[in-house]
Amino acid sequence: MRRRLTAFLACLFLGASLAANAGPAEDRKALTEHYKQRLPGVKFEDYVLGALALNKDALDQYESIMIFPPFVNDVDEGRKTWEKPFKNGKKLASCFDGGGKNVAGNYPQFDNASGKVVTFEGALNACLKANGEAELKYGSTVMGLLVSYTKSLSDGMKVNVKVEGPAALAAYEKGKTHYYSRRGQLNFSCATCHIDNVSNFVRSEQLSPMIGQAAHWPEFRAGTELTTLQRRFQQCNSQTRAAPLEFNSEEYNNLEYFLTYMSNGLPMQTPVFRK
Ligand code: HEC
Repeated sequence: MRRRLTAFLACLFLGASLAANAGPAEDRKALTEHYKQRLPGVKFEDYVLGALALNKDALDQYESIMIFPPFVNDVDEGRKTWEKPFKNGKKLASCFDGGGKNVAGNYPQFDNASGKVVTFEGALNACLKANGEAELKYGSTVMGLLVSYTKSLSDGMKVNVKVEGPAALAAYEKGKTHYYSRRGQLNFSCATCHIDNVSNFVRSEQLSPMIGQAAHWPEFRAGTELTTLQRRFQQCNSQTRAAPLEFNSEEYNNLEYFLTYMSNGLPMQTPVFRK
């Protein structure tokens, strides 16, 4: 019975997501339905908790750690970078509406001028460059801490990624293709684990649903190890013995665009603790 049910759900899912004219909104609807069937006890807003939404004990532990998060001082370093005046007297906040509050959920964005996806990191670097300041290295601690602080200014903002126009749609589709492509020695796609095997265990870890995954980055793993979303992509690629890609590569940015779109409507929370 259980196998038949799984096969049925797989058909349902494939049928919905691969429909010829399925656009981003239809993809998201199909995935939401898939998870609703697979995780009937999990409320939509709890998807932002990832694997913690699947394990009450782990969630209780998490909540007690988050009362006094061990990474408060690290995030404060990010605030210093955010507030540091440029040589021209302006600050990073001057590049963002509302001084940077409730903007991070609008990223990644598709920039029609360059024909590329711009991540929040990319927007911060564009601001530095436009003001004659040195850009920060993607994947560096200083950038990660800056993003940790800056995204915390958008806590509670609902993720609001837009895919508008043919060029944006093409970038979204490339991200989606990466997500569903099997690769590496184990021949797994992202979807194999996070869609088909959601809530199953890989060694000691329970697999989280992909909806909600992009709403809470960076994470501090084990309390203090700063991990960005694209670093996580690299780790997941390596887990299946596939070659990780570069930070800020067009392929990872498209993947981040696709994945973040799937968290639309869910509240951001940054940064968070993970085991
Ligand atoms: C072999 C199975 C496997 C594959 C394939 C895989 N992952 Fe993961 N992934 C995991 C495990 C295990 C975790 C940690 C538990 C969790 O949160 O799901 C994880 C965590 C994540 C997280 C963090 C979730 C959170 O809330 O902290 C993201 C984001 C993610 N994966 C994205 C991807 C992407 C994108 C791909 C494809 C490039 C991918 N994964 C492929 C196993 C996999």
